[in-house]
Amino acid sequence: MSRVSLSRYLIEQTRSHNTPADLRFLIEVVARACKEINHAVSKGALGGVLGSMGTENVQGEVQKKLDVISNEILLEANEWGGHLAGMASEEMDNAYQIPGQYPKGAYLLVFDPLDGSSNIDVNVSVGTIFSVLRCPDKYVEQTGSLDEKAFLQPGTEQVAAGYAIYGPQTMLILTLGDSVMGFTLDREMGSFVLTHENMKVPTSTAEFAINMSNQRHWEEPVKRYVSELLAGEEGPLEKNYNMRWIASMVADVHRILTRGGLFMYPRDAREPEKPGKLRLMYEANPMSMLIEQAGGAATNGSQRILDIQPESLHQRVAVFLGSKEEVERVTGYHQG
Ligand code: AHG
Ligand code: MN
Ligand code: MN
Repeated sequence: MSRVSLSRYLIEQTRSHNTPADLRFLIEVVARACKEINHAVSKGALGGVLGSMGTENVQGEVQKKLDVISNEILLEANEWGGHLAGMASEEMDNAYQIPGQYPKGAYLLVFDPLDGSSNIDVNVSVGTIFSVLRCPDKYVEQTGSLDEKAFLQPGTEQVAAGYAIYGPQTMLILTLGDSVMGFTLDREMGSFVLTHENMKVPTSTAEFAINMSNQRHWEEPVKRYVSELLAGEEGPLEKNYNMRWIASMVADVHRILTRGGLFMYPRDAREPEKPGKLRLMYEANPMSMLIEQAGGAATNGSQRILDIQPESLHQRVAVFLGSKEEVERVTGYHQG
């Protein structure tokens, strides 16, 4: 059987599903940028890219050199092609305006340029998460600049979402809204090849992911649920569970898309004013779209993540996503 590259897959989607040509182009450019990021990541110490910048991002987190490099690669790759009205990133305080000399397009690109960057210096998988929205015309001002409100759309409005994972294999996982496809980078050929067609999250699971060190800060429903998981066969769930926590959301979600599981980052009492650690626009929404498209579920404990109306670009959210049965169980505990 002949190999299906990402380019060929996208062209076929354009023909059969009316995927607009400029969306196809956008995904191609994002994929190209991910290849470049992969190249920088894989050089490690040889490329002088490890370690911190000594700066903080808008979230007050220390920026790694590769956070900044990856952000720049994505901006430079995407700003001139004419397919975007603007971009927003976890690593930038404000929305990125397309420079005046370049044509503008219909889409908004939102990304976490390097997810799991605390893992970069210890050679554990990291990734890039992205989300694509349509830009409502009313937010393009007379001056041609873009109002940040354009980005504040619920996740249900995403027209595409995905991530690249830089691990033992580099992969690109993509949904255009009707399935989830996984492409593996053929390093010799330099192209992403379709290797994981129609990825599905099993409904049941016996594996969960949470940072247990925060246990004392969790809310009651999460404490109760995790204590039941830990009680195993002797507990009320009458089943033994296994735990994994990679501390790169891309890697944890990739495992769940491959063999099922439940990922949790609940809100906690360390920073009570924030509804969670993870970012709605850059992390939770794109991952929730992928997980739902693969047959799983994603909530913040009380509602479907994709239904949340964002109020600000860098908004945080609690996240419970993965195999449906367990997402429903832990969400139910929040209701009681
Ligand atoms: P980022 O590197 O983009 O800041 O994201 C890190 C996130 C996510 O990838 C991961 O699931 C979580 O933070 C890990 O948090 P802990 O350090 O609390 O384990
Ligand atoms: Mn992240
Ligand atoms: Mn990041």
